[in-house]
Amino acid sequence: MSDFRTLDDIGDDFGDLRGKVALVRIDLNLPMNGGQVTDKTRIVASAPTILELADAGAKVLLLAHFGRPKGARNSMMSLSMVVDAVQDVLGREIMFVPEVAGDIVAQSLGIMRPGDVSILENTRFWPGEEANDPAFAKAMAANGDLYVNDAFSAAHRAHASTEGLARLLPSYAGRSMQKELDALDKALGNPEKPVAAVVGGAKVSSKLDVLKHLVTKVDHLIIGGGMANTFLAARGVDVGKSLCEHDLTSTAEEIMEAADKSGCTVHLPYDVVVSKEFAANPASLRTCNVHEVAADEMILDVGPQAVEALGDVLKTCRTLVWNGPMGAFETEPFDAATVALARTAAALSKEGSLVSVAGGGDTVAALNHAGVAQDFTYISTAGGAFLEWMEGKELPGVAALSQ
Ligand code: 3PG
Repeated sequence: MSDFRTLDDIGDDFGDLRGKVALVRIDLNLPMNGGQVTDKTRIVASAPTILELADAGAKVLLLAHFGRPKGARNSMMSLSMVVDAVQDVLGREIMFVPEVAGDIVAQSLGIMRPGDVSILENTRFWPGEEANDPAFAKAMAANGDLYVNDAFSAAHRAHASTEGLARLLPSYAGRSMQKELDALDKALGNPEKPVAAVVGGAKVSSKLDVLKHLVTKVDHLIIGGGMANTFLAARGVDVGKSLCEHDLTSTAEEIMEAADKSGCTVHLPYDVVVSKEFAANPASLRTCNVHEVAADEMILDVGPQAVEALGDVLKTCRTLVWNGPMGAFETEPFDAATVALARTAAALSKEGSLVSVAGGGDTVAALNHAGVAQDFTYISTAGGAFLEWMEGKELPGVAALSQ
C-alpha cells in the first residue's frame, strides 16, 4: 500500500548519505527494572533502520520519549539509562547527548563521524514535544537533513518528534514502520477473506471503539476474556460474580446488532471455566455450560469445547487479527484457552493458510506465554497505537509520513 516513502527513496533525494544528519524517531519507551532495560524488543525492531542509515554514512541522531515526564527534566526518565541496551543491540558504541536541539546537539554533530549514532535526551522533557509546538519541531529540525520515523508504536501521538518533524524535513518510514504498515494493511486494510478477529481482555469499556469498527470489517468476531461476560449478560446469561460491566449490556447488544447487519458472526463462549475464588488451581475449579454458572462463581476462561469450535472457525479463515487474552492467562489454569487457540492460529499460520497479526497491551505477553509468538505472521510492538489502528483511526504519525 506504500503511499509513504521509505529508506529506498532516500537515494533519489540525497544521492550519497555520507555525512548527512538523519533524525530517527524510534520507540525507547522500554520496560525497566532497577534502571535496567528488561525487554529490548523495541530496540531490536529499529536496529535495521539505524544500521542501514549508519552504514550508508549518515550521522544518526536517535529521538525518543520515555515515560510521561510532563514537559520537565526528570533524571528518573533520562534516556541515558537505555544507552547500554541500545549499544548491546547495535553492537557498536553510541554517544548520549543531553539535549534534543540547539548548540549542544550541533557541537556533538561536529564530533560525530559519518556512520556514528547518538541518542538525544527524552523529547518529553520539553513541553513543545507533546504540544507539537512548531517552534520546538523547527529547533530539532535545524540540526537534521532528513527525518525517519520508525516508531509505529508512538504514531498515535501527534507530537513534535512523531508528527511535527515530518512536516519540516524530507521524511521516510523506517524499516520497522514499513513492515508494520504493510502487515496491518494485509490484516485489515486489504485482507484476504474470510477475516477473523479475536478480541479479549478484561473490559469492554476499553475496547468499545475497536469492537464497533471490527464488526464492520471482519467476518468472525471472537470475543473472550472478561469482556465476553458483558456480552453474555446482554444475551440474558447470568454470569454470577464474574467481572461484568452491567451498565454496558445495551452497548454490547448494539454491537451485536451492528454485527448482524454487516454479516459478521459474533462468537461468545458456550462453555466456560469457573471458580469461586480467583487463585491458581483453586479447589472450586470446574468447567460448565455458560447457563450453569452459580451465583457465587466467576468465569475465568473460555471452556475447551468452545475453544475447539473457535479453532474450527479459524481453519475456515485466511486472515486473523488478535488483540487480548481469552482468559485470566497470567494465573493457571486460566491460560488454557489463550494457549490452545494461539497454538491453532500459529499452526495455521505456519502451514500458510492464515495471515495472523497480533498486537496491543497484554497480547504479546500472552502469545509468548503460549510459546507461539514466532509463528504468527506479524507481531506488533505497539500497544495504544495498535488499538487505535484497530479502531479504524488515522494515526497522526503515519498520516504525516503519507503527505
Ligand atoms: C507506548 O509505549 O505504547 C508508546 O511509546 C506510547 O507511549 P505513551 O502512551 O506514553 O504515549
